Amino acid sequence: MKRHVTLTGITPSGTPHLGNYLGAIRPAIEKTRLDPNSDFYYFLADYHSLIKSQDFDKIKQSSIEVDASWLAAGLDPERVQIYRQSDLIETAELNWILSCVAAKGLLNRAHAYKSLRDDNIANEREEDNGISMGLFCYPVLMTADILLFDAKFVPVGADQVQHLEIARDIAGSFNHRYGDTFVLPEATIGDGKLLTGLDGRKMSKSYNNTIQLYRPEKQLRKDIMKIVTNSQLPGEPKDPDNSVLFEFFQAFGTAEEVAEMRESFLGGIGWGDAKEKLFQLINRQMAPEREKYDYYIANPGLIEDILQAGAAKVRPQAQAKLADVRYKVGIRSFK
Ligand code: TRP
Repeated sequence: MKRHVTLTGITPSGTPHLGNYLGAIRPAIEKTRLDPNSDFYYFLADYHSLIKSQDFDKIKQSSIEVDASWLAAGLDPERVQIYRQSDLIETAELNWILSCVAAKGLLNRAHAYKSLRDDNIANEREEDNGISMGLFCYPVLMTADILLFDAKFVPVGADQVQHLEIARDIAGSFNHRYGDTFVLPEATIGDGKLLTGLDGRKMSKSYNNTIQLYRPEKQLRKDIMKIVTNSQLPGEPKDPDNSVLFEFFQAFGTAEEVAEMRESFLGGIGWGDAKEKLFQLINRQMAPEREKYDYYIANPGLIEDILQAGAAKVRPQAQAKLADVRYKVGIRSFK
């Protein structure tokens, strides 16, 4: 079977939480172990984070935390190409060349831009108020990330599917204009689980209802004690299928552990006891990874070395692709 590239980018914007872990990090790492026909490229999309944040220290801190998390969770740099977007300047050049192929109308419809614009109009502001070209062109940069490595499969969240359609469209336009050059990529929607947050809504940084990944033991217990429950007393049978707490058990426990907890719910376990059990379960799973995480956080130079080595490994491929693209668009030597 022909080999293909599976590629995804992670924008460093904050500290990863348990929702990211179950929804993206863990399944993406599992995939690298289960799909022998793919070469995997997982990179830190730090150019992308400039769109939303000008706080350099925050981006740097988040980049370290994101990489430390992926490494702690078991990402193997021998098996997976991991690198930082900004270490591959080829991305920026390809971004420009693709900008000259991308239709503006296509980007007008991109949802990140469109929703801000609609919001401006609804609030009687100038329609492009507060919108940077970076935000507007964001899908082109993402397209450059993908096409640079001929990625075929791009695991993303549902919110990114439109961007993959845009990437296919741009790749198709380029191929049509200059001859067959780029693989047409497709989104693969994760089989990752969505985790509910402490307050019962989807776990999300923007709701402030998350449990940070690799929290120290004490804080993890405190966070888990905050998960919403109802006012039922110990001894009253509880409905596992309407409980955020039980959802957490399902997300982290083995089938046996989940079945046992279901019995305990029906048998009237008190909320405090159930929370303590959940804490023990998550803490047990996290402990070895947390130790690695803390080690990387204390030694960010190790992460830098891994990223530099990763960039060095993939750079020749990026350079070769860009050389072909430059030639095709007519950026050529006079000799
Ligand atoms: N835009 C993506 C996100 O916010 C991150 C990203 C950047 C990406 N470049 C990419 C994802 C290329 C997949 C492929 O989630």
